[in-house]
Amino acid sequence: MTKIALVTGANKGIGFETAKKLAQQNIKVLLGARNENEGKRAEETLRSLSLDVTYIKLDVSCSADIENVRNLIENNYGSLDILINNAAVFLDSSWFGNNIETVPIQTLRNTFDINYFGTVELTQSLLPLIKKSKAGRIVNISSVSGSFAAHLDESHWIYTLKPYAYSASKTALNQFTVFLANALRETNIKVNAASPGWVQTSIGSEQAPLTPEEGAKTGVSLALLDEDGPTGTFSQAGEPLPW
Ligand SMILES: NC(=O)c1ccc[n+]([C@@H]2O[C@H](COP(=O)([O-])OP(=O)(O)OC[C@H]3O[C@@H](n4cnc5c(N)ncnc54)[C@H](OP(=O)(O)O)[C@@H]3O)[C@@H](O)[C@H]2O)c1
Repeated sequence: MTKIALVTGANKGIGFETAKKLAQQNIKVLLGARNENEGKRAEETLRSLSLDVTYIKLDVSCSADIENVRNLIENNYGSLDILINNAAVFLDSSWFGNNIETVPIQTLRNTFDINYFGTVELTQSLLPLIKKSKAGRIVNISSVSGSFAAHLDESHWIYTLKPYAYSASKTALNQFTVFLANALRETNIKVNAASPGWVQTSIGSEQAPLTPEEGAKTGVSLALLDEDGPTGTFSQAGEPLPW
């Protein structure tokens, strides 16, 4: 039977390339995007490559969208095999320096609404459908900037980059990964966090060394784990990262 995947923020960047790679594995991919024009454009581009994708309106910070998506998946497919929690925003004023003393609380709230609360609400809502899959896979697209250990290590390249809102939202996402993996340990569902690396996208900037296609690889490989694969991990390109 054809597997069903949902990728959030699939209209561009790493999410778009993730959707493309999954569809190239003959998986039916639902392209979650908050902007209808952009979502439909992504759908058109991937369909022109003969890939089986369908745009689905999904702002992860909108409870009504989440409910619609759950109903649509339940009514059309009955279950969900792969959930890629990719959608995120970077709202700190800069990547450089440590803004902990001045970052506006509203920036923190707006960042967490999407990167953390939206992701948790969507995942909780879809979990009953993922439990109906023979081999559910949940991949949270995190970041090395969510790592406590990296931010404590003066020799780490991220040490001088301390945008607090974005980093803290990814740390919270990492904890969500661990708690959910533990809760689902006796099931067929695996939950892992992926760091894509530093990637040429709106969030990563043009200076980044990796293309979005390269940045999609870690998440895709965790989405395609077989039953012997790990759960509750944080990794990049197959290498474990410190939490
Ligand atoms: N690029 C990097 O170097 C890097 C490094 C580490 C981790 N990451 C992570 O990789 C993931 C993908 O980011 P990216 O680099 O590909 O950046 P991007 O090109 O800016 O893509 C972000 C995606 O998230 C979507 N999005 C934002 N808010 C949303 C919402 N409320 N509901 C639904 N979709 C929403 C965006 O949609 P719109 O087009 O409508 O804004 C866009 O599709 C993110 O989780 C990011 O934190 C990236």
